[in-house]
Amino acid sequence: MDASESVFVITGATHGLGRACAMELAQVSGGYVVLACRNLSDASKLANTIYKDFNVKKGRVIVLEEPLNLCEETSVRKYALLLSNWLKSNSKSIKTLVNNAGLGQVPFSTNSVCHKLFRAFHVDNLAPASYSWSYHKCIFWNS
Ligand SMILES: NC(=O)c1ccc[n+]([C@@H]2O[C@H](COP(=O)([O-])OP(=O)(O)OC[C@H]3O[C@@H](n4cnc5c(N)ncnc54)[C@H](OP(=O)(O)O)[C@@H]3O)[C@@H](O)[C@H]2O)c1
Repeated sequence: MDASESVFVITGATHGLGRACAMELAQVSGGYVVLACRNLSDASKLANTIYKDFNVKKGRVIVLEEPLNLCEETSVRKYALLLSNWLKSNSKSIKTLVNNAGLGQVPFSTNSVCHKLFRAFHVDNLAPASYSWSYHKCIFWNS
């Protein structure tokens, strides 16, 4: 897989499936993996683990300065703006948005709605072939 200029965004990447997905994408794609998490300390630790254990090029795992809490609309708006700015300043678009964080948890509707809001903010930032309302390359992990 050669996706060295691609950007992958994973919500809830600190534990479980999101963490496994982040590790795999960072190793296999060679692209930029954005850890969109509510716990910045855990996200930074994961970034360091990926660099150390998998010999991933520095600067490829992105932890923005803002936490993303998908139970809070204001947090989603703030994070989406920061991510947009990062994408613009690096002339990048999102190849794949993995909506993973707590979708099966209570309150289901909050996380689900906020993920949709988060995606809506990034419609313009999704690479053309990566976006469609049928969720192609905009993945919702849900049971
Ligand atoms: N595991 C399964 O068998 C299974 C089956 C079907 C579907 N799924 C779905 O797959 C997804 C991942 O499952 P998992 O088992 O890997 O879950 P998990 O281990 O509980 O991990 C959830 C991740 O999401 C984050 N998160 C939860 N609520 C959040 C919020 N409001 N804002 C930001 N981040 C939040 C957590 O962050 P913190 O580290 O800060 O807590 C954690 O990193 C979930 O949507 C789940 O419903 C899982």
